[in-house]
Amino acid sequence: MAESCRIVAEVLDGIKKYISSGIATIELDEFAESFIVKRGAKPAFKGYNGYPASVCTSVNEQVVHGIPSKARLKDGDIISLDIGVYYRGFYGDAAITLPVGKINGNAEKLLLATEKALYLGIEKAVIGNRLSDVSAAIQDYAESEGFSVVRELVGHGIGRQLHEEPQVPNFGKPGQGPEIKEGMTLAIEPMVNAGGWEVILLNDGWTTITKDRRLSAHFEHTIAVTKDKNIILTKL
Ligand code: MF3
Ligand code: CO
Repeated sequence: MAESCRIVAEVLDGIKKYISSGIATIELDEFAESFIVKRGAKPAFKGYNGYPASVCTSVNEQVVHGIPSKARLKDGDIISLDIGVYYRGFYGDAAITLPVGKINGNAEKLLLATEKALYLGIEKAVIGNRLSDVSAAIQDYAESEGFSVVRELVGHGIGRQLHEEPQVPNFGKPGQGPEIKEGMTLAIEPMVNAGGWEVILLNDGWTTITKDRRLSAHFEHTIAVTKDKNIILTKL
């Protein structure tokens, strides 16, 4: 898993330099796919339940699962890049949200808060805690910053399958759900909205957007729980 996750981290890092006003999201997908294939891995999302691309590119009010297209990024946008890789029997999955050029203050605050919520959640993913300790840490921080967390989509176990048990919600009271045990591998992925938490699914069957059309950010890491800590596998 460390190897597949490392490839994910490398693609995300490599794609960063292409993020600028004028690039089409399909070009980002082409870069990512060729990078993944060159590393001897397989794009995990392509063909998954019919998803047509290697990367999910979700711009502005798009929460997750945006489909790469000829549409071009413009200054002031935010874009979430979500990448999954299959390599030698194991999956890795991670996402980041990046600014395009100069973004406004609240958008900046949303990106920072979502990434920090992810890290606060990861800190709780240690032996002895319960799964919802992760969820509660994410929700508490995101809401303390004036934002809301998406309810309808959740993080997940990951390993030999892209999506395994348990589900990892980004909301809830602490002290509930399964105990966190040594050897668990989890994809933790807060989706945080500038406005309300409600989302809707577009007619393409994939793209999830905020109901109020306000901005949404998404950060994700795959982690492994070990004896006295956890390891963020999708971090370079
Ligand atoms: N990170 C997302 C997830 O774990 C991406 C899945 S996109 C899909 O659910 F195309 F594979 F569905
Ligand atoms: Co995921």
